[in-house]
This record gives sequence, structure tokens and C-alpha cells, in this order.
Amino acid sequence: MAATGTQRHTRHLRPPEGVAEAATLLRAGGLVAFPTETVYGLGADATDGRAVAAIYEAKGRPSFNPLIVHVPNREALSGLVRFGPEAHLLAERFWPGPLTLVLPLADNSALSPLVTAGLPTVAVRVPAAPLAQELLRMVGRPVAAPSANPSGRISPSRADHVLEGLAGRIDAVLNGGPCAVGLESTIVRPDPAVLLRDGGLAREDLEAVLGRAVAEDTTPGRVQAPGQLASHYAPSVSLRMGVAASQANASVHVGFGADKGDVTLSVSGDLIEAAANLFQVLHQADAMATARGTGITVSDIPNLGLGRAINDRLRRASAPR
Ligand code: TXA
Ligand code: MG
Repeated sequence: MAATGTQRHTRHLRPPEGVAEAATLLRAGGLVAFPTETVYGLGADATDGRAVAAIYEAKGRPSFNPLIVHVPNREALSGLVRFGPEAHLLAERFWPGPLTLVLPLADNSALSPLVTAGLPTVAVRVPAAPLAQELLRMVGRPVAAPSANPSGRISPSRADHVLEGLAGRIDAVLNGGPCAVGLESTIVRPDPAVLLRDGGLAREDLEAVLGRAVAEDTTPGRVQAPGQLASHYAPSVSLRMGVAASQANASVHVGFGADKGDVTLSVSGDLIEAAANLFQVLHQADAMATARGTGITVSDIPNLGLGRAINDRLRRASAPR
């Protein structure tokens, strides 16, 4: 597989018969753009790390922003997240609909750590669009989906917008016509409620249900680049990048390809596999290094394709704290 810009034949699927095909592709680890009532999302099986890594590759994202997980109803979230009282209230009132809730991740959740970019919280949403509902029910697994546009471009509200940006980079687009809302979902972190992004659900409607004003999180870059937050996962020990196993000394070494380590991101040197394994492997190396009273070293990762996002994340993890 090429390190960057994997070529895919992009099918243009239409309902009703195209829905089953879209579900089959998603269950097989494929990338399928589908319409919600807000904008088109670029979906992948949220429990499949390689499929999630391929989302970042297709979008050309230079960093691992956490993604929104889509499910057909609240029951489908059991075992994945925990609901507080406000989360419960907002879900009751506004789902299905253009509201995303950022909730604490359940212990041993089946979600790939790449979905949350290693955060202990995950953004979840139940879209209202009938076609999204039908597709998610058929898939029967949580579907991670950012807006289906290349990184840095505007969100797509029609299937042809998706194709303009992503043809040849995804497996299919399910054409459901134009999105009704055309604006991304409103994002709230509840208990106590903080507004992370204004969107398709009006702030006034949220406040009416909660019975009070909702504070906005005004930290610069809060939602645009959550990877820059201090709360983002960072190992508790020191981390050095671009080190070969032969120079690793007593550290816990994270290998890549031919450069073997105590743990490895990808034995075959595959950047998609490395991205899928990144957060899991960092957690593991952190625990081993803490137990041994040493630090972490990481092999040189080529700075192309998903390697750029991996290096971006490693640089943050290696910054002095
Ligand atoms: O309407 C929408 O929300 C569309 C459709 C496809 O559902 N999706 C969408 O996804 O807009 P995306 O990836 O373009 O934006 C998701 C936003 C990002 O700004 C991300 O930083 C934020 O959600 N986010 C995700 N998980 C988060 C978390 N755990 N904490 C804080 N912010 C989070
Ligand atoms: Mg977006």
C-alpha cells in the first residue's frame, strides 16, 4: 500500500438499493460518505483502527483531531460512553437531531483510541436524517465520521461536493440529495454544559431545556485544534523521537518497520497500521517505562502521508511539560 494518497475506486451509490452496499463496505473496513441532516460525513467503522486511520489519510489531515461517533439511537451507545444527568436530559430532548455530546468514555469501550485521539472523552451523535438512520441500523456498529471534505475546505452539503473533494480517495458516496440543515451539529460537553461549537441546534433551545445560560468555551483553538490542549493524552514520562533501537539504551523503545522495539507501531512499516496503533502503543510504552523508571524513545517515522500526523502527535508528546 502506498504511504500516501491511497487510490480507491469511488462508487456513487443511491437509495434505496445503494444503502445495503454502503453498509457492507463500512462493515468491511471501507470509507463511505453518507448524508446526515447537517452535512455529509466520511464514515468508517469506529471499532476498526485501520479504517479510522484511513479517514485521516483520505482527508489529508495533518493531525489527529478527535472524530464524532454516529449511532442510530441511544441504546447503541451502551458500553461506549457514560451519561450524566444533563447528558441524559439533552439526549432525551434533542436526539435524533443536530446535537453532538462530548461524554466520558466507558471503561473497555470497543472504540478505537484513534477515534478520540487518545482523549478520555468521545463526541457522539444520533443523526435524524432517515437515510443516515437506515444506514447506521444496517451497519450495526458505531460509525466515526468527520465532515466529508478535504482538511481545510468547507463542509459538504451535497454528494457532488463530496466527490469534488474526495473522489478517488474513498470507497463510496451514498447520495441522499442536499442536507436539510447544511451546517454542522452544535457540540456540547455536558455536566455542567459548555458549548464547544455553535451549529445546527440553536443555543437558545439548549438553554431553554437546561433552564440556564450555557457558557461558551472560548479557549483559542478549542474545537479547531483540540490536539493542542493540555488535556490531550501525553505520556507521564519523557519521550524522544527519531531514535534508532541501537541508541535506545535503557528506554522503552517504540519500533517501526525494520527498527524493532519493545513494542512496535508497525512491523511492516505501514503508516496506516502505525496510525491505528499509535495511542494504544503510547499508553503501553508509558506503563512499561513508568514501571522500569525510564523514558520512551520512538523510531524515526517517515514524514509523509499519515506519518505527518503521527509526527505531529509525537512532537506534542515529547514537548517539555
Ligand atoms: O454535523 C456534524 O457534526 C458533522 C456530521 C458529519 O455529523 N460532523 C462534523 O465532524 O462536523 P468534524 O470532524 O468536522 O468536527 C468534529 C468536531 C471537531 O471540531 C472536533 O475537534 C470536535 O468535534 N470533537 C470531537 N471529539 C471531541 C472531544 N472528545 N472533545 C472536544 N471536541 C471534540
Ligand atoms: Mg469538519
